[in-house]
Amino acid sequence: MTASVIDGKAIAEEVISKVKSATAGIQEKAGVQPGIAVVIVGSDPASQVYVRSKGKRAKECGFKSETHELPETTSQQELLDLVGRLNADPSIHGILVQLPLPSQIDEDAVITSILPEKDVDGFHPINVGRLGTGQIDSAMLPCTPAGSMVLIRKALGKADLSGLNAVVVGRSNIVGKPMANLLLAANATVTIAHSRTADLPSIARTADILVAAVGRPEMIGADCIKPGACVIDVGINRVPAPEKGEGKTRLVGDVNYAQAAEIAGSITPVPGGVGPMTIAMLMANTLVSACRTAGLEPPQF
Ligand code: GUN
Repeated sequence: MTASVIDGKAIAEEVISKVKSATAGIQEKAGVQPGIAVVIVGSDPASQVYVRSKGKRAKECGFKSETHELPETTSQQELLDLVGRLNADPSIHGILVQLPLPSQIDEDAVITSILPEKDVDGFHPINVGRLGTGQIDSAMLPCTPAGSMVLIRKALGKADLSGLNAVVVGRSNIVGKPMANLLLAANATVTIAHSRTADLPSIARTADILVAAVGRPEMIGADCIKPGACVIDVGINRVPAPEKGEGKTRLVGDVNYAQAAEIAGSITPVPGGVGPMTIAMLMANTLVSACRTAGLEPPQF
């Protein structure tokens, strides 16, 4: 069997199109333009690339977009003051503080200082709690797991996962735990596996839906895949690629794609799978926040 490829790039474009048309709609109906503020502290090159592409996407969607670039030496209080100003700014519906932050700043304190309704990352404990208690309609959902759910619904052609076994490999606050909660809210039977799990392959092989979010290049091999499974690879790992020339690298996921694609029913590639969905869902979250503020029903993604 050769798995069908889940085209995250194309599905992300569909999400962006929906955001664009809904943005035009709320501007016409309520005179509201969604606004997003992205804050970056320091000059980590990878973070700067992400932040630039977020700004570009936001403009493309018709949003107001601000980027705040603060020096590496910024104090926690200075950052909290900026978040306070953005919280109070009615033209800003989404605030994202790019992580990681320099060591003098307590990330939890910053995340908790963002108003939950403007927390488009879905990292605030209020949003984590809403997701955990199944209050999906009032929560802000973290972008990578929410994007992965869009891919799963597309691949399986249904939103109700009753009767299906899902295994999430990885227990991070950003991906593993919220992913498990989203799958549970969709009625899947969910197992979370992690680095201390005994006999991972035998657990992974129970999965009709397997989500890999461990950050270890190609660790999920053929022995982890149930025939016909839907495989979602959240990993983005840069590894040496001497075959491309000295010092060259390539991106691989947490799944050994060549092995898994022989057995799975559907699978996300890396790159071009989950990656493009993350920014698309950030735009979707910002639109949802603007709709809620304006008292309008947000579109479903
Ligand atoms: N750094 C890497 N990924 C993310 C993300 O999704 N949100 C934020 N705020 N920072 C990140």
